[in-house]
Amino acid sequence: MRIDILSLFPEMFDGPFANSIIKRAMDRSLVSIYVNNFRNYACDRHKVVDDSPYGGGAGMVLKPEPIFEAVEDLVGRPYVKNPQRPVILLSPQGRLFTQKIARELAGFDNLIFICGHYEGIDERISRHLVTDEISIGDYVLSGGEPAAIVMVDAIVRLIPGVIDCLSVSDDSFSQGLLEYPQYTRPRIYRGLEVPDILLSGNHAEIEKWRRKEALKRTISRRPDLLESAVLTQEEREMLEEIKGSE
Ligand code: ADE
Repeated sequence: MRIDILSLFPEMFDGPFANSIIKRAMDRSLVSIYVNNFRNYACDRHKVVDDSPYGGGAGMVLKPEPIFEAVEDLVGRPYVKNPQRPVILLSPQGRLFTQKIARELAGFDNLIFICGHYEGIDERISRHLVTDEISIGDYVLSGGEPAAIVMVDAIVRLIPGVIDCLSVSDDSFSQGLLEYPQYTRPRIYRGLEVPDILLSGNHAEIEKWRRKEALKRTISRRPDLLESAVLTQEEREMLEEIKGSE
């Protein structure tokens, strides 16, 4: 996969992309990431990328030309919007990023991310250039860069070969539920014991306990997830049992 990120602050990506899973994926050539400063595409001598809003109001708005030019340089001219060639704008106005969207995006060979800044971005960018506008949560960041880092991390770890596929399928959300509790050595720490079932060696029972704990955790922390989770008959019975014992 190739990822291009358009940002006015390319240095913000140095740390996050030089460590851990993303670095490993790049070292193994499973992903290439290019961060481009779209200020380089500004058409005037002073490299201006923003201007005051038409109609008045506070703050500055990102101009369309540098961002259109930067995208066209990547995908070719004349630009034709194509959802099969995602151009993603990070913005609090976008649809909410989820594990499902991360899975969808992990299936593409090329992704372009545009990081907005300042008060806003010229609407012609959102309407005519961008194929998808995504928010990482209902809060306002000072720019799209942290959001792009979050999305790239969530997507890259799903690329086949980046991490062990069994651990991906165990992740929270991958089955529509939160993850079950995990324990490791020591068995007793400060008097706090690991549940006996995990030491029993009975894999079927351990599996059942984990599913039940995942359900319990989801009910108490994120009941909204249960509305769309696909549950087996056994899980539905567990759910009734848990609800009955509350
Ligand atoms: N830019 C500013 N806030 C954002 C958010 N919540 N998600 C994505 N991009 C943003």
